[in-house]
Amino acid sequence: EKGGYDYFMLKEIAEQPKAVADTLLGRIDAAGSLTLDEVRIGAAELREVDKVVIVACGTAFHAGLIAKYAIEHWTRIPCEVELASEFRYRDPILDRQTLVVAISQSGETMDTLMALRHAREQGARVLAICNTNGSTIPRESDAVLYTHAGPEVAVASTKAFLTQLVACYLVALYLGQVRGTKWGDEIRDVVRELSRISREVERVLETMEPVRELARSLADKDTVLFLGRHVGYPVALEGALKLKELAYMHAEGFAAGELKHGPIALIEEDMPVVVVAPSPRGRSVLHDKIVSNIQEIRARGARTIVVAEEGDEAVVPYADHLIRIPVTPTLLQPLVSTVPLQVFACELATARGNEVDQPRNLAKSVTVE
Ligand code: F6R
Repeated sequence: EKGGYDYFMLKEIAEQPKAVADTLLGRIDAAGSLTLDEVRIGAAELREVDKVVIVACGTAFHAGLIAKYAIEHWTRIPCEVELASEFRYRDPILDRQTLVVAISQSGETMDTLMALRHAREQGARVLAICNTNGSTIPRESDAVLYTHAGPEVAVASTKAFLTQLVACYLVALYLGQVRGTKWGDEIRDVVRELSRISREVERVLETMEPVRELARSLADKDTVLFLGRHVGYPVALEGALKLKELAYMHAEGFAAGELKHGPIALIEEDMPVVVVAPSPRGRSVLHDKIVSNIQEIRARGARTIVVAEEGDEAVVPYADHLIRIPVTPTLLQPLVSTVPLQVFACELATARGNEVDQPRNLAKSVTVE
């Protein structure tokens, strides 16, 4: 049942290109328009939406954080992302014009379910992004966009995360299409890139051996830090979460710009720091910033592990280890940059003798608050 893999997690990591392709299937037509018929919230209602609020937990929350960048950039609708467990108990401001997006692989997470019930009581419309057909969260939502990752067995979420990202991009692009905001060449390019992204995920998977080797060499470390900017920041958070839950290591993700506001004090000689570098093209200001962040931490002794686009030469002099990812549009980069971090955590956990599919103290579906 593990299809020749030692762990479900390895199998599920390997299934990501297919999961991504399946989630896109039938949702983008030949002309590059989106057809999300399942989203039973009418175009007129979607045009009235004046705020998007995303609620989720854990890895799904990280997908939501990335979605915010896409939604605000492509649609110009303000978007908030909140941990479901916080949202529920803080009296959020919602009304009929608020679109609440609840992201959940299992569809049974109690915190997310309570958040969506609370949202509906306030009159907001709820769209679920979910991987489990007929589960409670989509049943209680106004509409659902299913991710087609297939069953995810390993406790640590991998392929579900990538498909949650795809679904979030589709929602963002669909909102843009329906509302006519920013629908131009940039969006058309993104849609085209999105429809071929599964091949890029596959290419990343083909180059993971050095990442495994690196992970094994770090098995006796106590701490690994992760840094990113823009959409690379939630990717850093996700990389750290995977390492915590699988390798039981102290791992933290930071926005690289926050370094000097505190976290840089943590850096010690030979401490591994994974940096997710944004594309050097287009938003080069962001890239310049990350290069100086890498220089700063390296000057303080960090062992830098840099995830960077193919052709990004500026990071090379400061990278003790370089992990290459394919060139993608900035907002789509998490679909490729997350994959090495999953492999890294999985391999480190194995090297430390941990049970990869069933980490201690965790359950696949958290049905209590
Ligand atoms: C991490 C992980 C958890 C889940 C979270 C939400 O690898 O699996 O953080 O992402 O418990 O679960 P769902 O998506 O089922 O609501």
